[in-house]
Amino acid sequence: MADIYDNVMELAKRRGFVWPSAEIYGSVAGFIDYGPLGAMLKRKIEDLWRNFYVVREGFYEIECPTLGPEAIYRASGHLSGFADLMCQCPHCQEFFRADHVAEQTGLENADALLAAELEACLKDCVCPSCEEPLGEIAVFDFNLMFQTTIGPGSKRTGYLRPETAQGIFTDFGRLLRFYRDKLPFGATQIGKSYRNEISPRQGMIRLREFTQAEAEIFIHPEEKNHPNFARYSGYMVPLRGIAEQESGAEAEGMTMREAVDAGIVANEYVAYYIALTHDFLVSAGVNPEKVRFRQHLPTECAHYATDCWDAEVFSERFGWIETVGIADRTDYDLRSHSAESGDAFTVFVPYDEVQVIERTRIIPHMGKIGPMYRGKAKPIADALATAVPGEDGTEVVVDGETILIPADFYEVREETVEVRGEEVMPHVIEPSYGIDRIIYCVLEHRYDEEDVDGEVRRVMRFPPRVAPVQAAVFPLVNKDGLDTIAQEITQSLQQAGILTQYDDNGAIGRRYRRQDEIGTPYMITVDYETSEDGTVTLRDRDSMQQIRIDKEDLAVIVHRLVSGACSLDDLGISSS
Ligand code: GAP
Repeated sequence: MADIYDNVMELAKRRGFVWPSAEIYGSVAGFIDYGPLGAMLKRKIEDLWRNFYVVREGFYEIECPTLGPEAIYRASGHLSGFADLMCQCPHCQEFFRADHVAEQTGLENADALLAAELEACLKDCVCPSCEEPLGEIAVFDFNLMFQTTIGPGSKRTGYLRPETAQGIFTDFGRLLRFYRDKLPFGATQIGKSYRNEISPRQGMIRLREFTQAEAEIFIHPEEKNHPNFARYSGYMVPLRGIAEQESGAEAEGMTMREAVDAGIVANEYVAYYIALTHDFLVSAGVNPEKVRFRQHLPTECAHYATDCWDAEVFSERFGWIETVGIADRTDYDLRSHSAESGDAFTVFVPYDEVQVIERTRIIPHMGKIGPMYRGKAKPIADALATAVPGEDGTEVVVDGETILIPADFYEVREETVEVRGEEVMPHVIEPSYGIDRIIYCVLEHRYDEEDVDGEVRRVMRFPPRVAPVQAAVFPLVNKDGLDTIAQEITQSLQQAGILTQYDDNGAIGRRYRRQDEIGTPYMITVDYETSEDGTVTLRDRDSMQQIRIDKEDLAVIVHRLVSGACSLDDLGISSS
């Protein structure tokens, strides 16, 4: 029997939201096309995200190439560690993610198991494809990055980016100057990421090319209280912390203030972006009853991260889906790129007041050090400048060699100096969104069927601001000048920036149903009354309520309705 997934995807294909990619050549798993309405829905959801992160948070957007040189991914750890554990069926030769197969045994967190542990589980599993018992099979690493070479005949290896974040890290120095050398600051990027997923069989949920929207927020490592925490401190979110997962309990609703004070969420920054993410998901059309935030277990959390939470959205078909990851990544990324590139990746943070300190400084006698140590004289002098003098000379390490420099080769001075600040390596808070997964969840949650006069009415109840088409205009009949008025109204709405469809095809009821299916929130009908008094009917998709309004007021009213500035009730116009 068809479940909601089949119904949603049937509508999505038929109406031009989502299509299999390269369908005429048989398609390849893990790739999708967005049709005209899907592409529009996607832009609207991305723009909503921009509104939250770029406009409201002030984190400017950058755009980096999707293909990068090997050094980036050596530094980021993707080259050595971005792999899934894979196995191959000895009967049909299909490849699978070993943890997905192991879930047949009822395990919940199979992705936290090591290769040997998975091999032990797989003995009791059958091949998901041919259903033969797998028996004793090997589990091995498969790196998920797509590799290529850059330039003709080149030996220069490149990789398609597996996340948008790395471009923000590699641009850190320039971003710091753009933000006038001050912490905290953030940068964002929306774009395609690529992962050569082993066996993507979950439609829009697991893709090989997908869109991420990521923010990297650079903060002082010792200042993890968010300056605007008050905005979300009382915001209630269902949290499933480590304790709830270990005891099998459900998520518990709590305010962000409570979550930080109880030590459940590590700091105000992480809590702030948990709440903002909840706010965004609900604004985009995700059902608030089907969202929870799950903390990573110690076995899942990257060793460098202090706290990680996933925004999980419930799908009738797929269960709880991770749609957003929010992590305190400490200074891991900046430290790694600093080590790989040799750049500093630090910020000079001035003290509130200049500090006066006493310090001991070693002044090398180059007249003695030069002839004695020759080629090593300069590095020895540099090392002495920061060393602590010993009683019988000072030890320095140069090129891995420890050298004792006799005390008469330098002078020790006590100095009083003014220190204006310090160099710090920022920590990074990262909310990382998977746009395609969010779109699927919005499609599933907004899909509705109801019985109207003995017929099934299928409705996409999109929030008006993300609906791909915002208004539709119908002439009641295609004659007596009603069609001309309807076309004029369509154009006036379009000129006012409202995406509007004109439809004069078929019975009016059929036209309503077509627009209901694509989620158009407002429908306008031009009838004989229009030619008499200039009024039209405005129909609300969800309530099917109709009101009459002057056609001259339409553009302003629809604009206000779509932006959420008012509702039909607020207009104070009684329904006819
Ligand atoms: N920079 C951190 C990062 O990339 P991630 O958890 O690997 O973290 C972030 O990815 C989000 O990207 C996920 O929460 C998910 O929504 C989305 N995502 C990851 N892999 C995906 C895939 N194969 N297909 C669709 N979306 C994916």
